[in-house]
Amino acid sequence: MGALDKVVVQKDERPNPSFETSALPGFKKTVQGRRAIRKFDGEPIPEGTMRDCLRDAILAPSASNLQSYELYWVRDKGKQTRLAELCLDQPGATTAGELVVIVSRVDLWKSHLKKLTDIMTENGQKPLQGAVRDYYEKIVPMLMKTDRFGFHNLKRRLMFWYRGKSVPTVHEPVTRADHRIYGHIQAALAAENLMLSLAAHGYESCPMSGVDKRGIAALLGLPSTAEVTMVVCAGRGTPEGLLSARTRLPFGDLVTEV
Ligand SMILES: Cc1cc2nc3c(=O)[nH]c(=O)nc-3n(C[C@H](O)[C@H](O)[C@H](O)COP(=O)(O)O)c2cc1C
Repeated sequence: MGALDKVVVQKDERPNPSFETSALPGFKKTVQGRRAIRKFDGEPIPEGTMRDCLRDAILAPSASNLQSYELYWVRDKGKQTRLAELCLDQPGATTAGELVVIVSRVDLWKSHLKKLTDIMTENGQKPLQGAVRDYYEKIVPMLMKTDRFGFHNLKRRLMFWYRGKSVPTVHEPVTRADHRIYGHIQAALAAENLMLSLAAHGYESCPMSGVDKRGIAALLGLPSTAEVTMVVCAGRGTPEGLLSARTRLPFGDLVTEV
């Protein structure tokens, strides 16, 4: 296990007032400096840096901590070339030093839940207690279970509807579409962490969803239950890779105070 495979953050390392002077300047630089870059110099990113960025990616939050995604760092030259084609030969993909496919794996919820609870309980030696136990043993399976006839979906729909009549209640996931959204949300959060970490390491990136996702799934040998969320291309950007000044809608159009 590498030093960073298990990241334990001590209390005084979590955000605290001193972060405003220590962490905030770097964070602002990173967030404001990240741009979608469409052309790179083609040089690979050093392996250690890539691994560090990928480790940061998987620190993204995920619903129920199920980490319902996979990141495919495509390193094989032949596969990179084919992947760039499947990214419709977008210049960002054809010139990237690195390509990472972000895949939603909500279909793996059961095995992820098992692995997660094995880690949390140290393989059953320290059983979960109380609300956490109920959550992982009852609520998560209730939310995630599916079957070909839609029985579990119907059961959830009725439960949520009935409960929602008297108390605030979650109303999804009910349908297959809800589960698909669920998976893509977790995957996209990991992608954002990856791009911000790349930026903090001095590299640039571009997320791409205008790609042949079915072709990419076939290239990676994914089962039909997995779905490509996006491809992140990365490397050292070239000046012509920045196509325009940053444009954002007015703050008030996107942020509402109520
Ligand atoms: C989910 C997603 C998919 C995207 N797909 C593409 C794409 O296929 N090709 C591309 O050139 N840019 C793509 N972008 C980049 C956006 O166009 C870009 O983020 C946006 O214009 C804002 O620019 P900025 O990231 O530099 O602030 C995508 C961004 C996201 C979040």
